[in-house]
Amino acid sequence: MARYCSLNGKILPQQEASLGLTDLAVLRGYGIFDFFLFKYGRPMLEEQYLERFYNSAEKMHLFPPLAREELSRHIRELIAANGEDMGAIRLVLTGGYTPDGYSPSEPNLIVLQHGWPNYPESYFTEGVGLISHHFQREWPEVKAINYLTGIKLLPEIRKAGALEVLYHYNGVLRESVRSNVFLINDREELITPDSDILFGITRDSVIKAATGLLPIITREVQMEEVFNAREVFLTGSNKSAMPVVRIDGRPVGDGKVGYWAKTLKGKLEEYREAYYQRAEV
Ligand SMILES: Cc1ncc(COP(=O)(O)O)c(C=O)c1O
Repeated sequence: MARYCSLNGKILPQQEASLGLTDLAVLRGYGIFDFFLFKYGRPMLEEQYLERFYNSAEKMHLFPPLAREELSRHIRELIAANGEDMGAIRLVLTGGYTPDGYSPSEPNLIVLQHGWPNYPESYFTEGVGLISHHFQREWPEVKAINYLTGIKLLPEIRKAGALEVLYHYNGVLRESVRSNVFLINDREELITPDSDILFGITRDSVIKAATGLLPIITREVQMEEVFNAREVFLTGSNKSAMPVVRIDGRPVGDGKVGYWAKTLKGKLEEYREAYYQRAEV
């Protein structure tokens, strides 16, 4: 746990920070968040993440107590206070202290610092499994704090030896509970859904990193295509590009980590490193 966090623009020792019991995030699960990495003290693609955070807030009629530039400065102050060279930042904006148990009020803004993600190396060298589930996230473009379905399914996910749950709706692929999904088909095209999903920043970076290497298609994707894919991989801020080798116990392609998942992970990481190196403090 990082030493310091921030609540409504004040940096506090994390052990002393607290939120009141009547916050709408506690009573009704109403709130939004975002999550990104930093390295050399520099937040990854901060503008894109802040854009998404403020858009999510607006769509949910929540008004952050700090303007975007203030929050940006504040995040850097928190990173400096904690003194870690690399890690992750979570922004949370809650519904605020509700007067009647239901209506939002002035949101509370929390900034937490976490360690650098540490998935086992085998997840990347051997791949991970998923279980599929019929579900559509309610406000797909909003990064809401509501992960009820994914969390409720954890026992089944664990029982299946899987990492996450893969959402589809009426046979159409959406995303996984905390990641976007790409597939490579037999024609060596890179395909990913283009609607009713959270538009991941990593998804966008992978598309940029893959440009010129293979055809990239964003469109509606049938689950049948996923089961017949040569390769499937997940993307997310905390997991880079992670190969999927099993869905519902069935192998994806030859059941091994494929060339493109490995190659695009490498390209994504080059892209990210170049960004950290050249970003201005
Ligand atoms: C539902 C959902 N889709 C996709 C993603 C991946 O987004 P990003 O690459 O911006 O982390 C996340 C990340 O938390 C998510 O929760």
